[in-house]
Amino acid sequence: MLILGIESSCDETGVAMVEFSPNSGEYGKAWPKLLAQALHSQIALHTPYGGVVPELASRDHIQRVVPLTNTVVEKSKRGLSEIDAIVFTKGPGLAGALLVGAGVACALGASLDIPVLGIHHLEGHLLSPFLSSDPPSFPFVALLVSGGHTQLMSVKGVGEYEILGESIDDAAGEAFDKSAKLLGIDYPGGKELSELAVHGNPTAYAFPRPLLHSKDLNFSFAGLKTAVLTQCMKLGDKLISERAHLAASTQAAIVEVLVKKSLKALAQTGLKSLVVAGGVGANSALRASLNVECKKMNVRVHYPEIEFCTDNGAMIAMAGAMRIQAKRGVPTKDYSFEVSPRWPLDQINSDNS
Ligand code: KG4
Ligand code: ZN
Repeated sequence: MLILGIESSCDETGVAMVEFSPNSGEYGKAWPKLLAQALHSQIALHTPYGGVVPELASRDHIQRVVPLTNTVVEKSKRGLSEIDAIVFTKGPGLAGALLVGAGVACALGASLDIPVLGIHHLEGHLLSPFLSSDPPSFPFVALLVSGGHTQLMSVKGVGEYEILGESIDDAAGEAFDKSAKLLGIDYPGGKELSELAVHGNPTAYAFPRPLLHSKDLNFSFAGLKTAVLTQCMKLGDKLISERAHLAASTQAAIVEVLVKKSLKALAQTGLKSLVVAGGVGANSALRASLNVECKKMNVRVHYPEIEFCTDNGAMIAMAGAMRIQAKRGVPTKDYSFEVSPRWPLDQINSDNS
């Protein structure tokens, strides 16, 4: 089965083609393989505004999605007529941006007379480590850390997700980005803050670690940006020379909370495998700390390849293909598409199976 996937939920247009053999034996024995992918990031478009401008995002997706699709079809060395189904990000995300991907997926599906299926963006992130050459095995604990979400999940199989805890306010990526902005770093900021942090002392400033010792598996990051702001104001002119220390201390606070809560989730569930996904999953301090701590607990950690941590089409094509392969998602020829800008992941089973 040849599956084309389209992602357009926020500020990246991603298209990819994956393939699996319907006769490849039992589900879970051979995961779908990535044949080709293409991505266009809108970061440069939104940087002057300090964040994503939804209307500009939609307009740019419209311009990019067809050329990217042509590139992917060409790179995959397959013809459009060979595609068996098209999957697209149905939500959550920016309504206008989602409508572009959904509209193109359904129009192409109708013209090729093939079925389509809407996919949850976070399920794409969650299953993105299956694109790597060393994929995880079910069941596992997932730490999903993106620009909009921070969640710990127990994952038993495709479509079997139980939320163990989540952020009650800002997401980890948001905490990185808002703190980065205070240090004069352009949007999105997380990656650049982590590069600056390499030159700083992570214990220079004792920033708060909210809910670190709470019994539940929830997170709270809103207080961190306030603490960073207060410190920046105190420093005044000295801020410039302290930027690396501030970056390192901010990162240390976020990483410590993410690591401690992940370990708690592993201990509570008794699971021996951790999957880290989403943009913040690219953070090298987070990876280094998780590697050390999980080794002590005899837990295996899986990360997506760096290029698949942030938004991309490959993870959506993969999640769609895995759903179809697991018979937990049936693409249909109903092209009257709709999108779900707000779509909690724990509603996915009833909505999408
Ligand atoms: O998963 P993603 O592409 O978008 C959402 O679905 O929200 O994640 C983007 C987030 C941004 O907040 C970005 O600053 C952050 O991931 N990010 C990082 C790093 N790379 C991306 N944060 C910390 N360290 C990084 N290396
Ligand atoms: Zn994302």
